[in-house]
Amino acid sequence: MNPTPNTRGRFITFEGIDGAGKSTQIGLLEESLHSHNIKTVTTREPGGTVLGEELREILLNKDMHVDTEALLMFASRREHLATVIEPALRDGAWVLCDRFSDATYAYQVGGRGLDAERCNALENWVHPHLKPDITFLFDLPPTLAEARRIVASLRPGGCVAQDRFEREQRTFFEGVRAAYLERARRESDRFHIIDATSSQERIARKITAVLNERGWW
Ligand code: TYD
Repeated sequence: MNPTPNTRGRFITFEGIDGAGKSTQIGLLEESLHSHNIKTVTTREPGGTVLGEELREILLNKDMHVDTEALLMFASRREHLATVIEPALRDGAWVLCDRFSDATYAYQVGGRGLDAERCNALENWVHPHLKPDITFLFDLPPTLAEARRIVASLRPGGCVAQDRFEREQRTFFEGVRAAYLERARRESDRFHIIDATSSQERIARKITAVLNERGWW
């Protein structure tokens, strides 16, 4: 069960197609939370634990069946919940997580065509009673995201080699985006859609406004 909101920290997730610009905003939010003396744990999926980071290496680089991909995503998530997310929330910290189960619905179901029932079954197994308190969905057209990924890879220090997901075609990302938007429509209280074509300043203000509306700080 989710512990009562007064004693438990907040669980905030960031989602969107590759190249939508989540990382900068996670860093900015972390800074503002620290300036309000709020304890944070910033983490990511797949990954976030020693085992999870090893699974991430495999997931991003080795070809596999879509079922295997979904199972490994949830295996990494189980470990992450048990050793990082749940203890941090119990400790009153705010967990800022770069992707969570919505990404499996978007990428494996929406992108690769996994049966949604399989994803539901895994979610019910791995975290039947825990949902993010807020999910920021960074939305932008796949053509723009693709252009951003290319620009980022050409910057000094940028990584030219793409992982298995980044190498996917535009139709894959269209499926991912559609699945994210559908999920956001169904769970509109939890999701906040961010127009990822806006400036970083505007996006940061929007995120702060959402937290203000909830009276969380
Ligand atoms: P991410 O860390 O956002 O990539 P990067 O650091 O390269 O921006 O996510 C890694 C990839 O994993 C991303 O392409 C989306 C994919 N992914 C899934 O396919 N399913 C999932 O459940 C998760 C959490 C991520």
